[in-house]
Amino acid sequence: MTSRKLLAVVLLSSFVCAAWGTFSPRRILFAQCDYPEHSVKPKAVFMTCANNRGVCEVRAGGSHTLRAIFVPKINSSDVDSYVRWNSWVEVQLPGQNRDACGEALTCPVVANDITRFTYNLDIQNFWPRDEYPVIWSLTDRATDQEIVCFKFRINIV
Ligand SMILES: *[C@@H]1O[C@H](CO)[C@@H](O)[C@H](O)[C@H]1NC(C)=O
Repeated sequence: MTSRKLLAVVLLSSFVCAAWGTFSPRRILFAQCDYPEHSVKPKAVFMTCANNRGVCEVRAGGSHTLRAIFVPKINSSDVDSYVRWNSWVEVQLPGQNRDACGEALTCPVVANDITRFTYNLDIQNFWPRDEYPVIWSLTDRATDQEIVCFKFRINIV
C-alpha cells in the first residue's frame, strides 16, 4: 500500500471506530503554527462541531472531541498537550489535561508512524460566547521539542 492509501484507510477507520457523542466529527480547517520548521503540522484535523460547515461551533458547557492525525518526526515517551487561545497574550484554555499520553495518545510516539491524538475538549460555561483563534501543540517533555502544532478557530455558542 502506498502511504497515501494507508492514510486514507486510517482516516476512514477513525470515523468508524470512535464513539463521538452527540455531534458527528467533521474535518475542520487548520493552519500551521508560526515556526513550522520546529515540528510538523497534522495531515487532518477532525472535530465534533454543532454546525456542518465553516468555523467549528462548540457549545458552552459542552464537550467536543478533537482528533489530529499526524506523522511525527521525533520519538517521544512523555508528551505535553497545550491548547491556548491566541489573544495578545496566549491564554491557556481552562480545565485542560496537559498529559497527552494515555487515552488521548498512544505512547511512545514513534517517528514516521501515522499517529492519532484524540482529545475531549470541555468548553467551560463561563467562557464568553465569541469566536476564538486557538493554538494546539504537543511537545516532548524530555527535550522540550515540539512534535506537532496547529491553529484553528472555534466559535463558542
Ligand atoms: C525512534 O525509535 C525507534 C525505536 O523505537 C528507532 O529505531 C528510531 O531510530 C528512533 N527515531 C528517532 C528519529 O529518534
